[in-house]
Amino acid sequence: MRIIIEQNPEAASIRAAGWISQLIRKKPKCVLGLATGSTPLAVYGELIRQHREEDLDWSQVTSFNLDEYVGLPPTHPQSYRYFMDENLFRHINIPTQNVNVPDGRALDFERYCRTYEKLIQQAGGIDLQLLGIGADGHIAFNEPGSSLGSRTRIKTLTRKTIEDNARFFESPSEVPRMAITMGVGTILDSRQCLLLATGGHKAEAVAKTVEGPVTSQITASALQLHRDVVVVLDESAAALLQRVDYYREVEQVQREIESAFVSEPSGG
Ligand code: PGA
Repeated sequence: MRIIIEQNPEAASIRAAGWISQLIRKKPKCVLGLATGSTPLAVYGELIRQHREEDLDWSQVTSFNLDEYVGLPPTHPQSYRYFMDENLFRHINIPTQNVNVPDGRALDFERYCRTYEKLIQQAGGIDLQLLGIGADGHIAFNEPGSSLGSRTRIKTLTRKTIEDNARFFESPSEVPRMAITMGVGTILDSRQCLLLATGGHKAEAVAKTVEGPVTSQITASALQLHRDVVVVLDESAAALLQRVDYYREVEQVQREIESAFVSEPSGG
């Protein structure tokens, strides 16, 4: 895992956005895995800015979102489809037909989940999967106890997740009890994962994910099994990591290598 620690949430979000926009510029026809929640909001803000001010072109990008609440139509203000439309899609030039968010209203969920997996495969697989992390260490809606080999399916939300997400609804009783979510196995199939976490309330989950054992009780810890993961944190989210000095040293060396590589004259 490459651990990048920025000073504050803004800097961490800009760093994560830079990762995504660099891929889009390098591979205009890329497949992005996208996430919802409070954490990616500033990332999307920066990507919209780059689209408006720096010609970041989304016309060939395909996207797949991680999850959606069961039962909410895309027009519901708390549905993840609505979130994505409002906070990213309607501000950029990604074609609607290239956008995939699981449909929480599917009638035959088993079949629908298989189709979602197939669509990802047909698109060539996900190049870069953006991830947030729950305070209980979940990625997407893979709650503690989820199989680390799981694929897209229906998941019952934990009380903790329902409480955490109740802030977006009028009351906890309005939060859907189930979600359709990519599995841990689906996420691990992505070519690269970019986990973004900010704030002290994520510090414990981050420490367990990065430095704890791989366990289905902290589904994000499965990322240790992936060969290309970048974890972008702010100082607060990194506060409980034991090996911060080492991560900073590695990052310093990494930057030196990258800048040497960039300044290398091409073609010679
Ligand atoms: P948050 O959610 O970004 O709103 O904290 C993250 C998650 O639960 O995956």
